[in-house]
Amino acid sequence: MRHLANLKDYTGTEIREILSRAKKIKDNPRHYQDCLKGQSLAMLFQKTSTRTRVSFEVAMTELGGHSIFIDWRSSNFILTGIQHEIEYLSRNVSCIMARLLEHSDVQKMLSSSQVPVINGCCEKYHPCQALTDLLTIMEHTDKPLQDVHLVYTGVQNNVSNSLTLIASKLGLRFTLATPPTDSSSESYDADIQKIIHENAKINHLENPAEAVKNADFVYTDTWIDMQYFNDPGRTAEKDALVEQMLPFQINSALVQDRNCKIMHDMPIHDHYEITPEMVSDPRSIIYLQSANRLHAQKGLLHWLYFDTETVT
Ligand code: CP
Repeated sequence: MRHLANLKDYTGTEIREILSRAKKIKDNPRHYQDCLKGQSLAMLFQKTSTRTRVSFEVAMTELGGHSIFIDWRSSNFILTGIQHEIEYLSRNVSCIMARLLEHSDVQKMLSSSQVPVINGCCEKYHPCQALTDLLTIMEHTDKPLQDVHLVYTGVQNNVSNSLTLIASKLGLRFTLATPPTDSSSESYDADIQKIIHENAKINHLENPAEAVKNADFVYTDTWIDMQYFNDPGRTAEKDALVEQMLPFQINSALVQDRNCKIMHDMPIHDHYEITPEMVSDPRSIIYLQSANRLHAQKGLLHWLYFDTETVT
């Protein structure tokens, strides 16, 4: 049985297979419209979401299956041990996708589930987003992946961790432009830092202007974890972070007239990590990237349910 926890246990070949299936289904959706007939996906959310919820739900519908949204707070997950609820859930559905606050709870789900579990984003990893991002990059470059230079500017977080992992698996050149690594951050992962230090094609710079030279893709994400963004109790913390992070903003001064594509996993916070004119700049592929959430989820679901690409 396959799960998607964080991409660490996936080979480059397996990731390429998921992306290949995503592209095939995207190009020929009718051929796959009944492949998950009779299958049900449970979608469990401890945190807010637009894209992850919608894209998984539409993916199941368009593959002939069904999805069930479960809000953590209005379910009995709040009353008992996660392992008991997952033991039950995995006997009534054929796949589980969960957006949880803590990766340790994702691991508990993996060990309790009788069916595949997908990490729909936790504090350390966002593997579904990384699959989408690579699908999008492959669609917007003529270069082989090993010649592509992806630059991430912003904070080190779950998104940058998953980009680091997928870049290392697929052989991309990847540059992180962020402030110094904070080992007390909730997203800190020693395995990711090891990759950054040891992989010759993955670098960490603190100067974003230097990082974006020769970039094919320049990518950013929110500076503040989304559940904190509108918390009035965190205003001072947010203000200090904004002052520290403004040099890492994607704006016209940073990308100038460089021949690069601009990416963001959304939701966007205008004037923080990116300026509005960069979102609508001709080089922006942000909305195409977000639309690809649907196609990447389909490729992932197909790969989790079927051993071979030809099974429909
Ligand atoms: N990028 C992403 O995961 O979007 P949502 O938080 O809206 O699901």
